[in-house]
Amino acid sequence: MSRSKAVIAIDGPAASGTSSTAAWVARELGYLHLDSGALYRAETARRLGIEDLRSPEVTAAVSSVAQIPEVRAAVNAELRCMAETTDVVVDGRDIGSVVFPDAQLKIFLVADPWERARRRLHQRLQRSATDAEIADETRRLVERDASDATNTLQARDAVLIDTTYLTQEDQVQRIVALAQKV
Ligand code: CDP
Repeated sequence: MSRSKAVIAIDGPAASGTSSTAAWVARELGYLHLDSGALYRAETARRLGIEDLRSPEVTAAVSSVAQIPEVRAAVNAELRCMAETTDVVVDGRDIGSVVFPDAQLKIFLVADPWERARRRLHQRLQRSATDAEIADETRRLVERDASDATNTLQARDAVLIDTTYLTQEDQVQRIVALAQKV
């Protein structure tokens, strides 16, 4: 079945900026943003009986919950259903490879782990983090990358963007320009 609605898939490892980038790209294009990680976090929070999706407890447990095949099947079905009636930008780990292999545009974001940790802490703390804090966060991100590895699948036709030395606005404009060409 061919799709009548557009899908832009933005994948990448932990804290690579997929979510904030997808939200911005969606705003620029007038598409709906679907954050697949938030669905995995919501299921994890439900199982733990916690409300805050971004809490350290949910973040520590989400990789194991996301490995349960029934959880993945439910999340994927929900994403596909939401994308049936509207143009979407979807972000995650396996969106271009597994969930929407026929997406019009697939992006895979990468960045140096230290830089990813620095950005994530800046977002969370609203101040510059110390080197010790960044080192700690880098260790947690690298551990989560390892637990997520089997479900982090770069599509063969994805455009790889290394954002280590890019501003968020630059990376958004690159993706919007690519989207306008397809
Ligand atoms: O923003 P951050 O990189 O911290 O992660 P997220 O996008 O909120 O995703 C949280 C977790 O959900 C990931 O660490 C994965 O375990 C899982 N996930 C997944 O398995 N597949 C996806 N398509 C998206 C997220």
